[in-house]
Amino acid sequence: MKLEICTWPDDVLAGKAQPLTEVTPEIKKLIEDMVETMYEGDGVGLAAPQVGEPIRLICVDQTGPKLRGDLRVLINPEIIECDGEVESDEGCLSCPEFSATVLRKERVKVKALDPEGAEICLDADGFLAIVLQHEIDHLDGITIADRAGRLKKALYRKKAMRWKA
Ligand code: NI
Repeated sequence: MKLEICTWPDDVLAGKAQPLTEVTPEIKKLIEDMVETMYEGDGVGLAAPQVGEPIRLICVDQTGPKLRGDLRVLINPEIIECDGEVESDEGCLSCPEFSATVLRKERVKVKALDPEGAEICLDADGFLAIVLQHEIDHLDGITIADRAGRLKKALYRKKAMRWKA
């Protein structure tokens, strides 16, 4: 089932998401729906707060909705090492009609649990590293609108508030 995507500046996007302690049947269904919503929305990543669930759960597929060749579902993901810096032009399903250039780490090592509860450690660089940082940002209440410059953010807020009115 495709879920509704919350858009900035919704409150659920601004809070710190809570760690997930158990993968219940409800969470399994949520994961399935998130993956579908990500692909249907033409996205390469989705975080649970974007569908209104303030928990630390993300899905990513750097190959996109056409190939669907590298799906990863990460629970309680944590960046434990990083290095290098790179500028990245990003969009976000929660920030329609908006893009921003964001400073990211070039490489990240991410520790997480998979849906079966197994610990995984991911060494990522290139596009995957960027997607992971973008989605983990969502778990900490940060969107690309928040990472944009002050003026750009203010103008986008005005536009976004008009859509919500
Ligand atoms: Ni996003």
